[in-house]
Amino acid sequence: MPAPDRLVIRRPDDWHLHLREGAMLRAVLPFTARRFGRAIIMPNLKPPVTTVARARAYRDEIMAALPPGAAFRPLMTCYLTDGADPDEIDRGFRDGDWVAVKLYPAHATTNSAHGVTDLARVRPVLQRMERIGMPLLIHGEVTDPEIDIFDREAVFLERTLAPLLAEHPGLRIVLEHVTTADAVAFVRANAAGGRLGATITAHHLIVNRTHMFQGGIRPHLYCLPIAKRETHRLALREAAASGEACFFLGTDSAPHPIADKESACGCAGVFTAPSAIELYAEVFDEMGALDRLEAFASLNGPRFYRMDPNPGTITLQRGGETVPERVAVASGSEVLPFRAGEATRWRLLD
Ligand code: DOR
Ligand code: ZN
Repeated sequence: MPAPDRLVIRRPDDWHLHLREGAMLRAVLPFTARRFGRAIIMPNLKPPVTTVARARAYRDEIMAALPPGAAFRPLMTCYLTDGADPDEIDRGFRDGDWVAVKLYPAHATTNSAHGVTDLARVRPVLQRMERIGMPLLIHGEVTDPEIDIFDREAVFLERTLAPLLAEHPGLRIVLEHVTTADAVAFVRANAAGGRLGATITAHHLIVNRTHMFQGGIRPHLYCLPIAKRETHRLALREAAASGEACFFLGTDSAPHPIADKESACGCAGVFTAPSAIELYAEVFDEMGALDRLEAFASLNGPRFYRMDPNPGTITLQRGGETVPERVAVASGSEVLPFRAGEATRWRLLD
């Protein structure tokens, strides 16, 4: 059967998103709110979101920045620190102020200096989360400087994630933004009963490590975990397009001012929000798997998080729309979207 030119799916959710604050938030939020019903909002602000009060204030700021009429709902998260209080985390979960806890190993990535230095220090928190069914979202990379940057995810699986699963059999975990065939296999092997899932970004489905150096260094393709070699990209595409319940959409769209990316020490993050669902549609189309896009983008995530899928639908139409060259931020900076100035192969109809 030929692939369709028009696709109607349940409104998707983005299960991993960086929105920032202030002028940046106001510049980037409309792109996500147009496409997605909900998004898991990363808490790696400066300072990070570690208290219920701060999560509420951040949520209010996001709601105030929404375009009129948008039905988008931010799902807040708590940034895990060595000193985290199980009661505070539990209280926020029960009251609906946050839906998950984010674990950044200390110094693994952008704004992770307050992250966890040793999992033994947060054991009481993890035990409580296990008891109340609160998901733990993990940036899965070891921070050991001896380990090659391209191996940090694979080593994390053995060194950290496997023992964590063994110690906390009831803890529900999302391994965020998987980038390796190793992670895909690990998640599949441990997904039974919905205890382990993984998000996959659009850019890791499209870019491999060679693309980062095509004709020169491409700072806008640099993110963490870093893109791996082609065999890994192919494994990610196969996992996403499988429609299996343990894999779901999480863009990890992570805007930074252009000047911070194009620098002697450029920061990590790819800004995909302006064409997020369109990019996934392109990949699923190439895989001959458009009929599985809805499971990946709109159904598997809510099932893992024990929520209903969104009520409405979106319509995607074959035929491109130009990605903006730049997105202006009112504070004076600009952000460069992934595929800036290029045509998408699918577009979103309003
Ligand atoms: O590339 C990344 N950017 N990876 C992360 O883990 C953090 C994110 C950011 O906040 O910019
Ligand atoms: Zn992220």
